[in-house]
Amino acid sequence: MTKPQNRVFSGVQPTGNLHLGNYLGAIRNFVGLQDTHECIYCVVDLHAITVWQDPKELASNTREVAAAYIASGIDPETHIIFNQSKVAAHAELAWILNCVARIGWLNRMTQFKDKAGKDREKASVGLYAYPVLMAADILAYRATHVPVGEDQKQHLELARDVAQKFNNDFNAADFFPLPEPLIMGEATRVMSLRDGTKKMSKSDPSDYSRITLKDDADAIAKKIRKAQTDPDPLPETVEGLAGRAGADNLVGIYAALADMTKADVLKDFGGKQFGEFKPALAELAVAKLSPITSEMKRMMDDDQAYIDAMLEKGAERARAIAAPVWAEVRKYVGFI
Ligand code: TYM
Repeated sequence: MTKPQNRVFSGVQPTGNLHLGNYLGAIRNFVGLQDTHECIYCVVDLHAITVWQDPKELASNTREVAAAYIASGIDPETHIIFNQSKVAAHAELAWILNCVARIGWLNRMTQFKDKAGKDREKASVGLYAYPVLMAADILAYRATHVPVGEDQKQHLELARDVAQKFNNDFNAADFFPLPEPLIMGEATRVMSLRDGTKKMSKSDPSDYSRITLKDDADAIAKKIRKAQTDPDPLPETVEGLAGRAGADNLVGIYAALADMTKADVLKDFGGKQFGEFKPALAELAVAKLSPITSEMKRMMDDDQAYIDAMLEKGAERARAIAAPVWAEVRKYVGFI
């Protein structure tokens, strides 16, 4: 069985409210990897149901993430887009890896602690095992590279530990590659527009905390205008952003959207007031996001049949890649 050298796998949960963090931390980087890598991009619906999802909304949100992938520039002909629940290998391999991963490893996962909150006893078992399913997603294709935002770094480390332990336990040499996280760009951790110390997230109760891929130009401009900053002008250097979380966040967003470094943004805007910077940022955000937003809307309004057919075709191709890996895993484990 040949070993892939540059196979990318990543996923986004269909839990609604896709936001600028998902775009800049992940989806935009997915697009950039298409020229150099063989890419598999998944809508991770199995992960979504680790917390309650309304079934109708889950279906619609699944199509919406697929539409966001395509509208952002992922080519589903050359690469693969599909939803996770269509390929049984994810759940099957997750079971094997559940038996490889250790409870102590999962107990250290900070995202579980955040998501489960105070009442941990009431969290689903799936939420606890979430990172193992994520490892299975990646390893089912023996993917080598995984583009993600910074919040997924710990999960990727766990995936590497699981791969290594499987290889050791089953005398499998380097059957599973240790997947490399690709955490790229100037916006690997986009923060809330209301509080620069908190991550921008789908679940923040304030709609003003995030720019979503459904926001129109007015909403984007309004949210940026209201974004939390401080009374000082922008600094001349990146060091000057220290201790100014709101400012740092907006400069990072500008840099990522414009494909610049933060240092270059500050060359242009250092010494200027937010009254000048915010409208420039709003204009840039609208220019970059509105073509994506409108194409997503068009697909969701007029082209759901295309999305469904594309996901089915993608799943078929994904199954074909995962099948021989799964067959090898069965042999290693001793299943007849
Ligand atoms: P999800 O849906 O929570 O997030 C999708 C991607 O968006 C990134 N992200 C951010 N990046 C920068 N700033 C933010 N504020 C921000 N918020 C989210 C996430 O890092 C992620 O890359 N567990 C994954 C989904 C997944 C997966 C996988 C990823 C399931 N299986 C296998 C890679 C490989 C997640 O958190 O999705």
